[in-house]
Amino acid sequence: MDVRIVDDPARVVADLLIDVACAGGHVALAGGSTPRRAYELAAQADADLSAATLWLGDERVVPRGDDRANARMVREALTDRIPEERRPRLMEVETELGPDGAAADYESRLREELGNHPRLDLVLLGLGPDSHTASLFPGKPALSETHRLVTAVPEAGMEPQVPRVTMTYPLLNTAREVVFLVAGADKAEALRRAFGVPPDESSPAAHVRPGAGTLTLVLDQAAGEGMQP
Ligand code: 6PG
Repeated sequence: MDVRIVDDPARVVADLLIDVACAGGHVALAGGSTPRRAYELAAQADADLSAATLWLGDERVVPRGDDRANARMVREALTDRIPEERRPRLMEVETELGPDGAAADYESRLREELGNHPRLDLVLLGLGPDSHTASLFPGKPALSETHRLVTAVPEAGMEPQVPRVTMTYPLLNTAREVVFLVAGADKAEALRRAFGVPPDESSPAAHVRPGAGTLTLVLDQAAGEGMQP
């Protein structure tokens, strides 16, 4: 595991994203608020990202265009800001199918694009104060999924209180590169639980460990307090 405590984590993540996207990679993006600036910086780079495919690590099951949708944040911060000829493809979750239908549909699209054992080139993840990541929330059945690559989360148990669709450990842990972007003092304890030695088994993020890929934490000083660089 590579721990990078830096002044501008969004810049570091934007550069990683650009590298993989320029090479035509398949990237799963994090939702929430922290990555927005990284996406904006990536959009400003004037790079040709047209060969890349962007997926969502998780989505809130809300109507298309709803301001809680992760896809909307990604469009506004990243894809809509890039001229069409250089814009990456964004694979949105079809939320109108409902949580189960949308999860099954997203999984089959992943398999269509990447084969029956899909490996993402880069997975960007965030971390919640309760140590959830993507929409893998503490104590929920999605944590025990061993077969499906994408699953429904009928009750999030946190704001926004809407069902979710999330990538599961079996998919996240086959990625070539997993990067957590975490900022703010309110995440320091969750980071220690997920990545301390030993990790706390009840932390959802503690089970994201790519077997044949790299794991990198990109942290600001406040979040990284107490983590070994
Ligand atoms: C989401 C997420 C989620 C997020 C964390 C951190 O859809 O909310 O993908 O896992 O990364 O909750 O969110 P913040 O960056 O907003 O703190």
